[in-house]
Amino acid sequence: MIVDRLGRSFRNLRVSLTAACNYACTYCVPDGKRLLKARDELPADELLKAVDYLIDAAGIDKVRITGGEPLVTPKFDEFLLGVMQLPLDDVSLTTNGQLLLKKKDVIAESGLRRMNISLDTLNPMRFKSIARGGDLETVLAGIDAMLELGLKIKINMVPMRSQNAAEVVPLLEYCLERGIELRYIELMRMGHLLGSQGFAADFMSMEALLDLIGERYEFERTDAPYDSTAVRFEIPEQGTFGIIANESEPFCKACTRLRLSSDGNLYGCLSSANKHYIGDLIDQPRYAALPKLQKILHNALDDKKLAFQGEVTVMKLIGG
Ligand code: 5AD
Repeated sequence: MIVDRLGRSFRNLRVSLTAACNYACTYCVPDGKRLLKARDELPADELLKAVDYLIDAAGIDKVRITGGEPLVTPKFDEFLLGVMQLPLDDVSLTTNGQLLLKKKDVIAESGLRRMNISLDTLNPMRFKSIARGGDLETVLAGIDAMLELGLKIKINMVPMRSQNAAEVVPLLEYCLERGIELRYIELMRMGHLLGSQGFAADFMSMEALLDLIGERYEFERTDAPYDSTAVRFEIPEQGTFGIIANESEPFCKACTRLRLSSDGNLYGCLSSANKHYIGDLIDQPRYAALPKLQKILHNALDDKKLAFQGEVTVMKLIGG
């Protein structure tokens, strides 16, 4: 295992299948511009081989499938079915939910057990103005379909003062009623939000969120795993929720994440644009590729920061 002086190593790998997305969320892209796929995206079999090598070279035991939006690419089915066959403790998926109904069969066939679905509002008009693509009804039907399959669902909500602050409690109610864990994600200084006034105006802290929730529910803080990004809370007899408190309670010192972009670059830190191309190593036999990969992983681990500073490009490419 490759370990840095803070004891950090890579255990969780996030694989972006494509940089393309069918939404254009306000917190991700400016001016409603759609994200397109990267120029040289790797096919599913090469991404799978990269994961296979990284399991050995880095000690990866968890994989999360992301994008862009991972369900928009035709690679999705092959990658999902393939990754479920690899020796991993856990596979999960982050999706905006728009295509879940279409992918229901392959998801059922794959044996995937859990996923995170992004949902920032329950209001159809506001949905259009935040996501600038897709529609709310389809996402809600997709969530129901996944619950029917028996998957464990978490919902990601990014609360923003000027847009969906009034839905902090209604979304929690929606989730508690369905046995879903809601995750509030504090707005992050990614992309066009870095250094913008919009960030400061829209940012809602963990404290602000807990104040709002406290008006309606009693809750207590509960334990979370060592390398968890979320601070977790329990509402007795009703369920749990979490806050990814990137600003209020940063988790960089326990970060175990490694990211692989759709065009074959490893990123050691969400707050660093440094990237390490491994697309060429995938063609090499395991014995030749692994030592080279380990050298690259040392460098990628060095990219990890002590605190989150924000970054201009990385989030959209590799989906958080
Ligand atoms: N701040 C906070 N969360 C973000 N996401 C994307 N961009 C940002 C940002 N700037 C979230 C999406 C999705 C998850 C993958 O990351 O809403 O739920």
